[in-house]
This record gives sequence, C-alpha cells and structure tokens, in this order.
Amino acid sequence: MVTVSGPALSPEQQRVFELIEGTKNHVFVTGRAGTGKSTLLNHLAWNTEKQVVISAPTGVAALNVGGQTIHSLFRLPIGVIADHDIEQGGDVRKVLNTIDTLVIDEVSMVNADLMDAIDRSLRQARQRPLEAFGGVQIVLFGDPYQLAPVPGGSDERAYFTDHYSSMWFFDAKVWREAVLNIVELTEIHRQHDDEFKFMLNAVRHGMVTKEIADALNGAGARTPPTDGTITLATRNDSVNRINAEALKRLKGAVKTAKAEISGDFGSRAYPAEESLELKAGARVMFLRNDSDQRWVNGTVGTVTKISGSVWVEVDGEVHEVEPVSWEKYKYSYSQTSKLLTKDVVGEFTQFPLRLAWAVTIHKSQGKTYDKAVVDLGSRVFSSGQTYVALSRLTSLEGLYLTRPLRPNDIIVDTDVQRFMRRQPPSPQPGR
Ligand SMILES: Nc1ncnc2c1ncn2[C@@H]1O[C@H](COP(=O)(O)OP(=O)(O)OP(=O)(O)O)[C@@H](O)[C@H]1O
Ligand SMILES: [Mg+2]
Repeated sequence: MVTVSGPALSPEQQRVFELIEGTKNHVFVTGRAGTGKSTLLNHLAWNTEKQVVISAPTGVAALNVGGQTIHSLFRLPIGVIADHDIEQGGDVRKVLNTIDTLVIDEVSMVNADLMDAIDRSLRQARQRPLEAFGGVQIVLFGDPYQLAPVPGGSDERAYFTDHYSSMWFFDAKVWREAVLNIVELTEIHRQHDDEFKFMLNAVRHGMVTKEIADALNGAGARTPPTDGTITLATRNDSVNRINAEALKRLKGAVKTAKAEISGDFGSRAYPAEESLELKAGARVMFLRNDSDQRWVNGTVGTVTKISGSVWVEVDGEVHEVEPVSWEKYKYSYSQTSKLLTKDVVGEFTQFPLRLAWAVTIHKSQGKTYDKAVVDLGSRVFSSGQTYVALSRLTSLEGLYLTRPLRPNDIIVDTDVQRFMRRQPPSPQPGR
C-alpha cells in the first residue's frame, strides 16, 4: 500500500527520481533486493508532477502499490494477445490519452506479449501509430533475478518459442524501436553487513563457491528456534501445514473473521484471507503499513486477545488492530478537470493479518525479516527462489536453514543473464 511516509531518498534514489521526472526516457529501475526500488516507486507516486498511472501485472501487486492491474487498465483479454485487434471503449481511450507516464511494478512478471500489447494499445488510443507506446513514458520496476513470468499452458509456450527469444518483458518487439534505459540501484538498505551482502550477491548470480556455501551453511544450518520464528518455504502445502499444526497446538477456541467484500473485487485478487482463523497466541504477520507507524507490512507479532478487535503484541508492546479496507482502484478521465481521477471500484475489509509461522518464498517477495527459517524442501524449482528467501534477512545471524544449501538450489535464469550482461552499464547513480 502506498504511504506518504517513507525514508528520505538516498542520493542515488533521488537521481533516478529526477531522471524519471525530468525526462521522457523509458526507464527500467532495477537492482538487488533491498536497494529501495519499492521505496522509490512509493516516493514517485506521491511526489510526481506528471500524470502518472501506476499498474502491476497481478491484483495483489497492484493493491500493494495503490495501482490498477494492467489487464483492467487496458481492458486486455487474458492469455496471449498476439496480433489480434485490441478493442477499446471511449473511457479507456480517454485514460490512455491523458497519461504522461505509465509505471509498472513487478515487471518481471510481465511477459513479452503483454509488453507489446501495451505498446499497441497506447499507439492506437493516442492515434500515434508510428511512435512507440504512443509517446507515453514507460517506467518499469523490478529485479529479474527474483520473480519470473509465470509460464502458461503448452500453446502459450509454443507461441513464445516461435515469436520471441524468451517470455521476458525485455524481449518484447517494441524494444527494437524504443530505448529502455536500465538504471541499477546499487546501495543496499536492507542489510548492513558487507560479508552477507557479498554472499547474497553470489547467490543472485549463481556464483556460489564452496567457501560461500560453507559460510552460509555454517551460520544457518542449525536447530531452528521454537519461538515462532517465521518459516519461508518453497511450497504452499508445507506452509499451510506448518500454520495449521501450529494453530492447532495452541489452547483455546478458534475465532473466525470473515472479510467484507463490496463492489467489483474479482475473486482471485484477495489481499488477505476471506476467512481468517485466529487464536490467542497465534503468530501473525501484518499485511499493511499502519498509518501511525506502529507496524509495517511484514511485521510479525503474536495475538494476545480477540474480542471485537484483535490485540497483537509486537516487540513487547500490545496494539489493538482493527479491520482495514483495501481499495481496488480504477483510473478514469474527467472531462471537466481534464485530469485523471482514481476511483474506488471495490473494497475488501479484513484484519490486516495472516498466520505467520510460515509463508511461501513467493509471498515473501518484497518483505524484510530480522529472523527466518528457510525451508527449501526436497528441491528448489524456480530461478531466483533461494535468492529471494535469503535476501529477506537483514543479517546472517537471523538465518536458519532446515537443511544445508546444495549446488542445485541456486538457479539463475539464463535469459536474465544474457539481458543484464548485454546492456552497457548505465551511468550508475550514486557513483
Ligand atoms: N533511502 C533509504 N533510507 C533508509 N532506508 C531505506 C531507503 N530506501 C529503502 N530503505 C529501506 O530498505 C528496505 C528495503 O527497501 P525496499 O523494500 O524499497 O527495497 P526493494 O529494492 O524494493 O527490495 P525487494 O527487491 O526485496 O523488493 C526497507 O526496509 C526500506 O524502508
Ligand atoms: Mg520491492
């Protein structure tokens, strides 16, 4: 969720902000985990003078940044769009005509076909068929060494094999006509220990030597604490099992909070449990930042009491937590003001909590933890998974591994390597 508050930008973040604000360049803001990409996006959303529309590939990612999903913003059909005609109603056209800048968060989950459909939609709506993105500035945020686009069915995969070098957004055809400036944030704010940063970087690039593996295993492969420290696991079923078992072990009755859902919310993009089961003593994680800064998205605590509200203890302090609403937005164009307005089209109200003895590594994207148990299970199955898990930790002291790392836990996507290498290093802000 976008909040006004946030740390003051570092000089390198400030320079990227000025690049976006002061030019019409297409920019891909990338960088290692914890370099402050999300922080910068949040700052941009609140401080830009441009007509900026914020979007993301999935419902939850869009909710996280107070934006709209790409598919609903452009009214695109699900699945491969290829060269099919794109139908546009008058209101979509008006919105697309007003935009100066289109921001896409979590761009690593946008595939090349969708990137090209965005380009065609903008050219069509703005009646500028010869200009990439119809003249709109595109600003992308993400780290391709973390999440990969989700592969579709076999037909979809065949389409990509025939038409693109890879599924990745950076292999979209539009980039033959438009220049994408890659700006890499270099300063890590999440971790402060240089040795740990070095190890994480090795994991990111698949350059883990025996020495580095030994150091990570030496520190991490030990008996996990039993104080309810969060487990980051590869698979959903192990996460659900850990949470259910832990909840069951607690004494007392289960209380269930049902979410209130109104308007057009869609069923797959719920930002929290529809039916949240809690007990006093349950480990929970906050799913939103608090306006009074008592907790942030990702803060972990323990339920102490449930009666109407839920009381949660965080670092020795007990806070009363009330339900909050997630608002689903839609951009529209106001004829009178000639400006874009962002309207609420749906609301989801629930306690901003979920059980937090365990979460999937996938869901832990973007989060920060001081302590965590990393459970890589029988095997790691997607690129970047181990990197995402380990890079959530603020220090090596907080790392616990349920089993030692193995060489095949480190998977790096070769298309990402090709793309990141091909680029001449852009002038590094901050250097
Ligand atoms: N300029 C800054 N000064 C102080 N702290 C910062 C700054 N920028 C970011 N941080 C902090 O560093 C942590 C990581 O920032 P953020 O989540 O924005 O990074 P990210 O690049 O989006 O990471 P990820 O790739 O894991 O999503 C957060 O706790 C954030 O508050
Ligand atoms: Mg982030």
